[in-house]
Amino acid sequence: MEVLSAQASLSLSREGKMFDTLGLICMIWWCMTLFHPLHADLQCMEPETQESPITSMTWNWGRMELSWESSKNFPHYICTMTSGDERRRMPVENRKCRFSIEDSLPLHRGINFTIGVPDMNILKHCQFIPEGMKGSAIENFSCVIYNVSLMNCTWRAGRNAPEDTQYFLYWKNSSDENKTECELYIKGENGMHIGCRFQNVMIKDETAYFLVNGSSKDSQIQFYDDYIKLYTIERFTAPLNVSVNCTSDLEDCIITWQKPLTSYWKPEHCFEYEINIRKKDELEKDKKDPPVTVVKYTYEFKNYNVKKQYVLKIRARGRSVCSVNTSWGEWSEPIEFGQEKDYFIVVLLLLIVLGTILVTLLLFFLCKRYCSFKRIFPPIPQPRDKFNISHNENIQTENMFPSSLS
Ligand SMILES: *[C@@H]1O[C@H](CO)[C@@H](O)[C@H](O)[C@H]1NC(C)=O
Ligand SMILES: *[C@@H]1O[C@H](CO)[C@@H](O)[C@H](O)[C@H]1NC(C)=O
Ligand SMILES: *[C@@H]1O[C@H](CO)[C@@H](O)[C@H](O)[C@H]1NC(C)=O
Ligand SMILES: *[C@@H]1O[C@H](CO)[C@@H](O)[C@H](O)[C@H]1NC(C)=O
Ligand SMILES: *[C@@H]1O[C@H](CO)[C@@H](O)[C@H](O)[C@H]1NC(C)=O
Ligand SMILES: *[C@@H]1O[C@H](CO)[C@@H](O)[C@H](O)[C@H]1NC(C)=O
Repeated sequence: MEVLSAQASLSLSREGKMFDTLGLICMIWWCMTLFHPLHADLQCMEPETQESPITSMTWNWGRMELSWESSKNFPHYICTMTSGDERRRMPVENRKCRFSIEDSLPLHRGINFTIGVPDMNILKHCQFIPEGMKGSAIENFSCVIYNVSLMNCTWRAGRNAPEDTQYFLYWKNSSDENKTECELYIKGENGMHIGCRFQNVMIKDETAYFLVNGSSKDSQIQFYDDYIKLYTIERFTAPLNVSVNCTSDLEDCIITWQKPLTSYWKPEHCFEYEINIRKKDELEKDKKDPPVTVVKYTYEFKNYNVKKQYVLKIRARGRSVCSVNTSWGEWSEPIEFGQEKDYFIVVLLLLIVLGTILVTLLLFFLCKRYCSFKRIFPPIPQPRDKFNISHNENIQTENMFPSSLS
């Protein structure tokens, strides 16, 4: 659904707040064809004293482009976009400013556009005010990229959103792409969309634009939008190929691994690793040694005690020298090493069992050949079976007096 390429016209106070024809056609088309349109009120002001040569300002949401007409031909214009403390400024030579996806500002908090003509003291201000009920927009929007190419985005329903509110997520990964709607929503109670799962995400252009709008029978729902640098939300997989090589004579172990898989290639020096080694019989929370962090791909474990068993795990995070997420990623699967003691016990047990079996067999065959079983194990005299005897006596007693009863 092409929600975002809809042209939104700016109404001009001097022009009686009327939409231009194209804008009006687009507005009608927009309202008729779209199930859940975006709500934005666009207002322009200009100084009372002079009539501005700049008119018909239009914001094209899909192209992130501000365009305008001018009654005079000026060689240069300067566009600015201001939201809170943030400002983007762009000098241009034609009558449009296209803000790139890497260098734009979200619109949901409202935004001020200004077009100026250098050295001419001409300034035109327009305000973009999102419509809809306060507190109906989603909150706490966040995304995470994991397992290299999967991404989850989640949000909370606005605290004032009516019960029947439904939210829809659109996103685009580069300036030239069209917005696409989420294909796999995560649903909450009443089937409300509370998140979206993405597959085959690639960190191509590093910034993505996300927009979540909503619809309800009762009231207009405010939209939420944000630009997110995708590399900052990647959660790294565990380091690969973790291995331990212990030498008992030197009493040390060399631990090696490889950098985690990432959504797009990063050099080795972009990562650092936390090595976590604990004795197997010691609980994680009782571990006394502080965590070890290294930037290399090998680590020498020196306090190795051959008689102890250890559990090793490693996780990675990005270093701030590169554009990567600096939060810790997944732990590697725990690896146990230093099994000397257990091995010894197992071998000992095995030897004892084998020895016992061998000795028993040997004795058995020797006896079979050279000695009589009867001599070694004389038959055990059978004890008198009291029950059987008394039973027999009863029968006899019965047989003794058959006739006396009849
Ligand atoms: C969003 O997160 C903040 C801080 O974690 C929390 O105080 C707030 O209640 C959350 N909003 C909603 C709608 O859950
Ligand atoms: C992503 O969402 C799915 C579905 O809700 C969930 O099972 C999975 O644990 C989520 N993954 C992360 C890393 O949040
Ligand atoms: C975006 O959509 C427009 C109109 O639907 C189409 O002409 C254009 O080719 C699309 N662009 C891309 C990159 O898909
Ligand atoms: C790294 O990504 C996680 C989500 O996986 C996010 O919570 C965290 O804020 C990110 N850290 C930075 C420094 O961007
Ligand atoms: C990890 O080791 C396996 C074999 O043990 C090898 O096939 C694979 O290429 C290694 N991974 C990397 C990233 O080198
Ligand atoms: C372990 O280290 C020793 C000496 O450092 C080396 O000779 C041996 O090949 C290594 N074993 C493996 C499996 O890497």
